[in-house]
Amino acid sequence: MTKKFYITTPIYYVNARPHIGHAYTTIACDTVARRQRMLGADTFFLTGTDEHGLKIERAAQDAGKTPQHYADELSAKFRNLWKRMGISNDDFIRTTEERHEKRVQEFFRQIRDNGYIYKGTYTGQYCVSDELYVDGAKPGDPCPECGRITETVHEENYFFKLSAFQDKLLELYSNPDFIRPETRRNEVISFVKSGLRDQSISRSAFSWGIPVPDDPKHVIYVWFDALANYITAIGYGSKHAGAQEAFKKYWPADVHMIGKEIVRFHCVYWPAFLLAAGLPVPKAIVAHGWLLFEESKMSKSRGNIVRTETILDVLGADALRYFLLREVVFGQDGSFSFDALVQRYNSDLANGIGNLASRTLAMIKRYFKGEVPYPSHAASRNAGDDVIAETARRTIKEFGTLFDQFQFSRALESAWSLIAAVDKYIVENEPWSLGERQDEDSRSRLATVLYTSAEALRIATVLAHPVIPEATAKIWEQMGLGDIKKVALNDLAWGQLPLGTKLGDVSPVFPRADKSAVERMQQMEDNQRVPVVEEAKPAPVTAVEPKPTAAPAAPVALDGKITIDDFAKVELRVGLVKVAERVPKADKLLRLEIDIGTEVRQILAGIAEAYAPETLIGRKVVIVANLAPRKLRGFESNGMIVAASLEGGKPVLASFLEDVPVGARLK
Ligand code: MSP
Repeated sequence: MTKKFYITTPIYYVNARPHIGHAYTTIACDTVARRQRMLGADTFFLTGTDEHGLKIERAAQDAGKTPQHYADELSAKFRNLWKRMGISNDDFIRTTEERHEKRVQEFFRQIRDNGYIYKGTYTGQYCVSDELYVDGAKPGDPCPECGRITETVHEENYFFKLSAFQDKLLELYSNPDFIRPETRRNEVISFVKSGLRDQSISRSAFSWGIPVPDDPKHVIYVWFDALANYITAIGYGSKHAGAQEAFKKYWPADVHMIGKEIVRFHCVYWPAFLLAAGLPVPKAIVAHGWLLFEESKMSKSRGNIVRTETILDVLGADALRYFLLREVVFGQDGSFSFDALVQRYNSDLANGIGNLASRTLAMIKRYFKGEVPYPSHAASRNAGDDVIAETARRTIKEFGTLFDQFQFSRALESAWSLIAAVDKYIVENEPWSLGERQDEDSRSRLATVLYTSAEALRIATVLAHPVIPEATAKIWEQMGLGDIKKVALNDLAWGQLPLGTKLGDVSPVFPRADKSAVERMQQMEDNQRVPVVEEAKPAPVTAVEPKPTAAPAAPVALDGKITIDDFAKVELRVGLVKVAERVPKADKLLRLEIDIGTEVRQILAGIAEAYAPETLIGRKVVIVANLAPRKLRGFESNGMIVAASLEGGKPVLASFLEDVPVGARLK
């Protein structure tokens, strides 16, 4: 019977456009799915978007759109990007789709019928950014995950009896493959051992979510809704026979791949929900580390994201795929830089597999009229040829073992050491010199050397296919072997390259990238980070004076005065200064990181002559939160800090005499 294989990415929040952090997980899953297909497994690869909850509702509000309209736009960005990258997902689930909403309600109902959901009152702190109930926190406390200030929630909720699952969960974790890597498994075990409290699984203070069945005043907690995508997408809760069949076939998932920050949701809540519903739990949850850029986690709120499109435009999808899987040790954090990307691209792709393919195939074209030669009689063989064959055999095994344990980087290292061995072999055997001679021994030696090189190239190409699908498909065609997708990986062995195969047209698959590639990508990112790129004067530090709009919706009062509606357009909020530092070579400017409740903003302000940076940390200030970003001295400034601007004097920051919560709006 054919083996089935079901793999999922997290479904991504639509409060931000995709960046290479999201691409990282998606690429890793895509690679695994592609390899499984080549191994003959009936594979299902799922990704999608997470569109409900307070965070999305607020993001939509800030963008002046309805949540649905906002989610439609952002979800399409993810879907289109994956298409452009050739991601091979079999489905794309959106949590606002009817099929999902209905099935989530069914899941909720099932757990409630089984007696694991009850009504109660929740009073406590909530982090909107992580959509997380923060146990034990007091009003004003920061979220332990992201450091943002939590909000106080007091509302009637539905609760899930998580406390009933402590022992059952610990039993699941006794299987070492259930949570990987081990560090994450240990963290989860100690968290669960320390005791589990029942978990609120509905909200009633806002409405952007799936209504609780039979009690629509409540919406289902966004994490309950989101986690359920893994079963709703493949047919759980459907009345259709086809969908039920699919669910029976694919569930439980073989791998949920996630970033390390959402381990608790996947390893504690999710299996507990499933157990409560009487469903099997996933076979494995695999957590990877974070992609760092400029030394911190790449994320929208830090403003340090790198867009995938930039890399696609300059180097192509294969370059990004290879880099991320080769450079980052899976499970650990890894840094991204354009320099490192281009370096890897040149050394491993252009000079590595790309060069091996062009030189080997070009020589076969030149010396054997484009037909794979016979490694004729035994006399033309030597020990070096056997070493390559042996290395290739070992690599097939080693690559498979490492890859199937998610050790992508080591697996690629192993495949590339085969490429390096062949490069060395070619240099040692000098086929170009052999090709200049006409005697029979030289011809047959040349045939052996080129056959051996081409066969090793074929094996490296098959192994690398799931990681660099585009380039390997091209190499395959150039080798005259047809469609690489049809290769059965289980049968891969040395010596299968058919003699006499007629090569196709040969051209470089990875042209070398020159130094300007780094600058071009950096430039493209800088341009993207700000709608208008301008090297402007330091931010004007002044009390806000909104200008009447050119075409006001409401009638404007006379004498240049503005209406209350005009004023309401300016979003003034209380912010807390987390970081303050001088900007090199700019006497007046400070770079601030300011928490505004929902996110931490970078703002540049011309107040360096009035305030020493260290005196500002922990101070509450007023900021204009909906000002279009702009660039100052190479930094993006995302808002404006409000101060009295004194003629000829130093600016004085607006502040409060009473304590005010961070994020509060001034109106
Ligand atoms: N919507 C939830 C997940 C629900 S799953 C049932 C969520 N969404 S998210 O948009 O914040 O995406 C988080 C995931 O994106 C991470 O778990 C990881 O897979 C990926 N990454 C986002 N930024 C990343 C990095 N900087 N580095 C590595 N992965 C990153 O959480």
